[in-house]
Amino acid sequence: MADSRARPAPLAKGGLLGSAADLLSDPLNTLLEGYHAYGGIVRFRIGPPGSPEIHGVSGPAALQHILVSNAANYRKDDRLYDAVRHVVGDSLLTNQDELWTRQKKLIHPLFTARQVNGYVPQMSALVARMAARWRRDAPATVDLHAEMNELTLRVLCAVMFGGEAEEIIQVIADDWPTVGEAVAHRAFSAVRLPDAWPTPRARRLAGARRRLFGACDQLIGARRGRPAGSRAPDLLDLLLKATGADGALSDEEVREQLVVFLVGGYDTTATTLAYAFHHLGSRPGLQRRVKQEAERLPRSGTSLDAAALPDLRYTGMVLKETLRLYPAAPVFGRNAVRADTVAGVHVPAGAQLLISPWVLHRDPGLWPDPGVFDPDRFAHGDDEARHSLAWLPFGAGPRLCIGRHFSLAEATVALATLVREFAFTCDATALTAPTVRPVLMPTSPMIATISPHP
Ligand code: HEM
Repeated sequence: MADSRARPAPLAKGGLLGSAADLLSDPLNTLLEGYHAYGGIVRFRIGPPGSPEIHGVSGPAALQHILVSNAANYRKDDRLYDAVRHVVGDSLLTNQDELWTRQKKLIHPLFTARQVNGYVPQMSALVARMAARWRRDAPATVDLHAEMNELTLRVLCAVMFGGEAEEIIQVIADDWPTVGEAVAHRAFSAVRLPDAWPTPRARRLAGARRRLFGACDQLIGARRGRPAGSRAPDLLDLLLKATGADGALSDEEVREQLVVFLVGGYDTTATTLAYAFHHLGSRPGLQRRVKQEAERLPRSGTSLDAAALPDLRYTGMVLKETLRLYPAAPVFGRNAVRADTVAGVHVPAGAQLLISPWVLHRDPGLWPDPGVFDPDRFAHGDDEARHSLAWLPFGAGPRLCIGRHFSLAEATVALATLVREFAFTCDATALTAPTVRPVLMPTSPMIATISPHP
């Protein structure tokens, strides 16, 4: 409900272009500076006076209201999700109303904690394969982000496509960065050129989309004619088979979901793992604790069992702290349907909101010394004393991330297995500020020296 006495959100920057250039070149710092200067809800104008505005939102009470208690008033018809929709099509991530309800019912069972446990052997086998390569090349200097991108792409494709993963991995690796860049550019640019204009960016995107969608369509077409039979079903088999009261997903819907699993599912986990390894590589004491914990587990070759994951408590704390400082989805959007009052601030009907875990996770009122990497913030007790939405890497409410069990299981397996086998050494000072593509991306190689433990 809108309260007539509520104040409007302060405007971060007036001037000729408002915050357009700042948001395009450095959205994370722009949002953080707006928060420090004006508080939890701040307006950013994208262009000259009269241009569209974005309300940057952080603060757990405001987010509880928007994402949970009054979620029905906040839709995904905002600039960021419009950009996702425009570039890769609709899916569980962007759909709303009946279509979202229907797809959620069909897809949710494929991502429960129990279902994800069934994917752990594949995750573990691919991590072991990476470890074998590292051992062959050791001691080696690697770019953690490039290595983790390769690992998480292989894991996701193995789970989605089983034995046919190889056919599509290269297409995704080559074309996905173009797609991500196009989403971020469209979301934050003051000027949106029509797709039909043959700019170099539009041509690159058209080519990337054609190859990516074509590769998915080919796999779907081939699989329709050749169901799983006696072989273990992969995610594509399960998607093709998933039926509810309203019937199955069409081929186009299946492709859209596959693409959104790529949007959500591989570079997010890769970024998380790269930052986790980087911090362990520059903090030997923390690395030792992860190693000791992993060494206490029963060994079966190099692979980890799903049943062991809950025992890896400290590894889980390292991942939680990584997702606090480097939330892989650092911003996501909503728009207000009706006028509302949020944490005492007037939010007009139609307002575009940019929700920022990046800013929330750096709030010194919630996280003392927010810039310090300290997994013990998540030790039992400390965690429960905080607002339940102080930590928001996976969102909250009805649109909570469907892939959270998947990415945490994968990241836990990778971190524990690789730290048990290798010593990581990184230069703490070598980290540059990340950017938004719209997933959080490092802007320079994340170099680590890795050597096998005796
Ligand atoms: C570190 C890893 C990940 C992070 C940080 C992350 C973050 C998020 C966030 C913040 C949302 C909610 C957005 C909103 O409310 O607008 C979300 C939704 C979603 N994520 Fe993830 N995600 C991750 C991994 C994954 C994986 C592995 C998958 C699938 C394979 C996935 C698929 C999805 C889907 C389909 C949604 C939409 C759910 C719905 O609206 O019903 N994500 N994710």
